[in-house]
Amino acid sequence: MKRKLAAGNWKMNGTNARLAEITALATAHPAPGVDILICPPATLVVQAAALTADHAMMIGAQDCHPAPSGAHTGDISAPMLADAGAGAVILGHSERRENHHETNDLISEKARAAHAAGLIAVICLGETLAQREAAQTLDVIASQMHASLPDSASAANTVIAYEPVWAIGTGLTPTSAQIAEVHGLLRSLLAERLGAPEAAALRLLYGGSVKPSNALEIFDIPNVDGALVGGASLKSPDFSPIITALESAS
Ligand code: PGA
Repeated sequence: MKRKLAAGNWKMNGTNARLAEITALATAHPAPGVDILICPPATLVVQAAALTADHAMMIGAQDCHPAPSGAHTGDISAPMLADAGAGAVILGHSERRENHHETNDLISEKARAAHAAGLIAVICLGETLAQREAAQTLDVIASQMHASLPDSASAANTVIAYEPVWAIGTGLTPTSAQIAEVHGLLRSLLAERLGAPEAAALRLLYGGSVKPSNALEIFDIPNVDGALVGGASLKSPDFSPIITALESAS
């Protein structure tokens, strides 16, 4: 039975003091009915992993380099993240696609590296507002999905997060019908690529302005297996009700 996933992306937020939010979440959800993943900045991965060693919560990172080691000043490799205690890594977030000009090919290489290191790759994709207005959303999603998913992808080692760029950090969310359309497309493209059973088991997250007030409605949408949450994952009183909403939708 597929476990739903509540994933938090802290982005470039959080110093030592914020680790208390992870402890609070673990205390509030001692035996969660869904998987919980928190992706703090890389500087906190070791400590966050130690804090959650006795809890089902998984700690992840927000990026990795495609190579396992080498002369890449400032970068962090997938084996290093695994060694630090990470179990997953977010890849191809739209902020990285934009700020660091990451291409689908690079994201696919990074995902292959994550898989080789035993990490779950949380691969993000989504259309811009201009693309949605030009009715290009489904084409954009299909090409991002095909090009950023490596051949090593399986339901066990990959999660796909649909995050419309215009919904991230803006308070705007697509309609339920719009989310259902994209998630339905992803599920059928995955079935062509991986076969129906594997496609059915692979978790598809929605991300972009998920908050306690809209979580239940979003988790009710067909083919939504959880959420990737930015701003509302930073504080346990905001993230905790989202976890609870997902549990009740499961
Ligand atoms: P948001 O971010 O929840 O703050 O909109 C989501 C994300 O970027 O993953």
